[in-house]
Amino acid sequence: METLPGVTLRRRTCCSDDDPKSSHGAKILKDFGIKPHPPSASREPAVVHRYQNPYNAAWDGKACGKTMIDVAVLPTWLDAAVLADAQVVILDVLRASSTIVTALANGAAEVRLFANPEAVRTARQAWPAAEAQAITGGERGCLKISGFDLGNSPVEYTPDVVSGATVLLSTTNGTRAALAVRGARDIYIGGLLNAEATAAALLANLDRGHTLLVAAGTDGKVALEDVLGAGAILWHILESTYRADLALTDTAWLAYHAFGSVKKRLPAALRLGAGGQNLIRAGLESDIDRCAALNSQPIVAQAHGDPPRVMRSQK
Ligand code: MLT
Repeated sequence: METLPGVTLRRRTCCSDDDPKSSHGAKILKDFGIKPHPPSASREPAVVHRYQNPYNAAWDGKACGKTMIDVAVLPTWLDAAVLADAQVVILDVLRASSTIVTALANGAAEVRLFANPEAVRTARQAWPAAEAQAITGGERGCLKISGFDLGNSPVEYTPDVVSGATVLLSTTNGTRAALAVRGARDIYIGGLLNAEATAAALLANLDRGHTLLVAAGTDGKVALEDVLGAGAILWHILESTYRADLALTDTAWLAYHAFGSVKKRLPAALRLGAGGQNLIRAGLESDIDRCAALNSQPIVAQAHGDPPRVMRSQK
C-alpha cells in the first residue's frame, strides 16, 4: 500500500484477515464462530482514508472536514471572501519572508511592512525619539533602496545590527502580499527557514476556518521557491497529523508533491527558478543557500495590525 507521511491514499486491494474471501480470514472467522460479512458489493468500499478536493463537483462533503487547506500560487488567486475566517501564511522565500524571519530570530523587536519606500521614509521621519531604534530595510530590483540602512538580504540582519530594533521594511512583492491579506484572522510569515514551526502554529487551528498559504510570486508570475515553501509547510502538517479528514485543494497537493520531489536538494532547486536566477544575476547567489536552509530558524512570525507589524510569536 502506498503511503505518504501521515496519509494512506490507495484503496485496499488485497484480502485482509477479516475478509471472508481470504482463506486465512475465513479460518479465523470460523474458529471464533463469527459469521462472514455480507458480499462486498453491499458493503462500504474499503477506503482507508479519503482525501477529496472541495472544488471538485464530485466531492460528497461527507468524508472531509468543513475547512480546506489551499495554496494560492499568487496573491491574485485569493478568494477575499474567505479571508476573515482564515489563517494565512505569506511566502516570499527569495527573500522577504526569509529576511523577516531572520531579523526576528536575531532579536529584532518587530518588522513593520510597507508598500513602498516613501511610506518607510515617512515612518522613519515620524519615529519617536523615545522609541527603540528604527532601521530601514528593503529592495527594489533586488538591490538596497537608496538611503536605506539595509537591503533585503538575510545576512545583513545580524544580532548586532537588529537586536531590540524595529525594522521598517518594503520589498517588491513580499511586503505587498502581506498587505493584500490584511483582514485575515491570523497572518503568519513563512518560508523554508521556519516551515516546521509555522506548520505547528497552523495545526492547532485547522478546524477554525480555512488555511491559506499565499505565495507572493514575482511581479505577477508564479515563483517556484514560494510554492516549494508552501509545500514544505504542508509536508510538516501532514507528517504531524494522522487525520484523514483534511481537505487539500489540488494546488495544495501540487505544492506538497513539488516539495517532496526536491526536498533533499533545495539550494539547487531554488537556483533554477526565475527568482534564484535574478539573485545570481545581481551577485547575491549566497542568499539562495541561506533562504533554502530548511527549518534553520524555528520561529513563528505573526503579523498584527495595519501596517502589519510582524513579531515573534511564542506558539
Ligand atoms: C520581493 O519582495 O520581491 C523579494 O523579496 C525580492 C528580493 O529577493 O529581494
